[in-house]
Amino acid sequence: MSKLYGHIAGLSPRHTKLLLNLYHRKVNEIISLQQAGALSGLSHELGRLVGLVLSRRGEVLQVIVGTAQHLPAPVLSRARVGATRLSGLSLLRTEFGGGRVGAGDVVELLRMRLDFLARLQVKEGGRPGQLEFMYLDADSPQGFGLHSFYPGKAPQDMRQLALYQEGLLARQEDSVEVGGQGRALLVSVSSEPRAAALDKLEELKQLALSAGLSVCGQVLQRRLKQDPRTLLGPGKLEEVLALAFKQRADMLVIEQDLSPAQAHHLALVTGSDLRFIDRTQLILDIFAQRAGSREGKLQIEMAQQRYLLPRLGQRDDGLSRLTGGIGGRGPGETRLEIDRRRVRERLTRLERELAQVGRQRERRRYLRTQNQLPVISIVGYTNAGKSTLLNALTNSQVLAEDRLFATLDPSSRRLRFPEDKEVIITDTVGFIRDLPKELKKAFAATLEELSQADIILHVADASSSKLNDQIEAVEEIMRELAVTHLPTLLVLNKMDLAENAEELAARHGALPISALKRESLRPLMLKLQQMLGI
Ligand code: GTP
Repeated sequence: MSKLYGHIAGLSPRHTKLLLNLYHRKVNEIISLQQAGALSGLSHELGRLVGLVLSRRGEVLQVIVGTAQHLPAPVLSRARVGATRLSGLSLLRTEFGGGRVGAGDVVELLRMRLDFLARLQVKEGGRPGQLEFMYLDADSPQGFGLHSFYPGKAPQDMRQLALYQEGLLARQEDSVEVGGQGRALLVSVSSEPRAAALDKLEELKQLALSAGLSVCGQVLQRRLKQDPRTLLGPGKLEEVLALAFKQRADMLVIEQDLSPAQAHHLALVTGSDLRFIDRTQLILDIFAQRAGSREGKLQIEMAQQRYLLPRLGQRDDGLSRLTGGIGGRGPGETRLEIDRRRVRERLTRLERELAQVGRQRERRRYLRTQNQLPVISIVGYTNAGKSTLLNALTNSQVLAEDRLFATLDPSSRRLRFPEDKEVIITDTVGFIRDLPKELKKAFAATLEELSQADIILHVADASSSKLNDQIEAVEEIMRELAVTHLPTLLVLNKMDLAENAEELAARHGALPISALKRESLRPLMLKLQQMLGI
């Protein structure tokens, strides 16, 4: 039995009947003059907007009634048809007063992958005005095409024009390169100067690549304050969605951490083909991919659950997608329905298990101290070359890769000095600016080990244009961990790539090295020996 949707309170029986009658007539040639007249007349008489959801054959699937200003979005959940398919649904709606097609319409068009969205102007006295006809068009700069014409006077077969896109989209899909985990569009809303905001986007790109995503574009919006509810302004949101559509993105990666409210709003406007994650989640995700040891895995899961906890308990459609992570490696799609209580229980269990693993680590550390072997802990910004240096110094094979956070689990090796003197040298988690607090907490135990070090070896990447910032970010974390009183040696690694190696090293009071050039490590060994007094 057909029913009316939207704001139906207060409709007279006559109006209800007239609206229900709309179900009985197919809408052909988009809309004939006669049908347009009937629709605009009815909308005028009601003083409310009216929308029709149409099938491809022109059948009216839904009649939606709005207020004078606003038409509720169709409540149909469209079948999952893949990013490059249209949904087979269209929306024909009335509009009072005319004006430009609003951002809401574009969002609707993209979100629902509508065949088309047509707005019929209702003029004075209820006469039908022009029809504005929008359809998805991956070739146009805005992602959609727009034609205006009078009902019954379409310049060409508009439905065919819209459907032509479907074939085009499917063909383009074949030529799109998809990274292992999907195609990401980076988004940042920042009040910082443009150059600083772009730098952060570049780092976000590296993180996305590290996570196995391919990056198909980026959007930066500079505004003084991000919108606490929607993050982006309506125009920018439209641009982001259109670009995501044009670039075949299946994920938005957002530089700023999303509040639960913002995640909720994004979930409402993005539709099911477009997932989204924020930077914290991205980092947690990378860590989840890399964690090898039992302790690392437990720590990551704890961080993910901690991140999830405040985002639970809201009626949040976005949650399912927020917690899915890349490729569903978040705390888990199977746990989408878990409530706060169960997350808390899980957290308690994780804490217990971690404490147990921690005790084993303590025992190992105790044995080490029994051996009286001094400990050197390597710290540094991610990708600075810590693992490569550890390998070079100890002739071992710790995973070293040109990816952020290639190593996650701390690894310890013996370092042999001449005259058979030995020390333990450990590699820690790579640091990064604004390390998510959930992660810091989760890794607290591992990082605390730093306080037991005899020497902290701070490795920085001399070839990075962000050398100063990266040194500063690491020093800040060291301050937080209260280990700045320990003897620290700063080395500038990758000197083979830096042009002004000596000058840089002198400026930072650091030792220039290249982990790839063994001979450059000799002064480092001597310096360490001297510091340790061995
Ligand atoms: P995370 O695990 O992300 O914290 O990284 P890391 O600091 O352990 O860096 P890693 O040792 O994985 O090195 C990152 C990349 O830099 C790898 O591709 C290394 O081959 C390269 N690399 C390391 N040291 C040097 C160097 O002295 N010169 C050059 N040219 N490349 C280096």
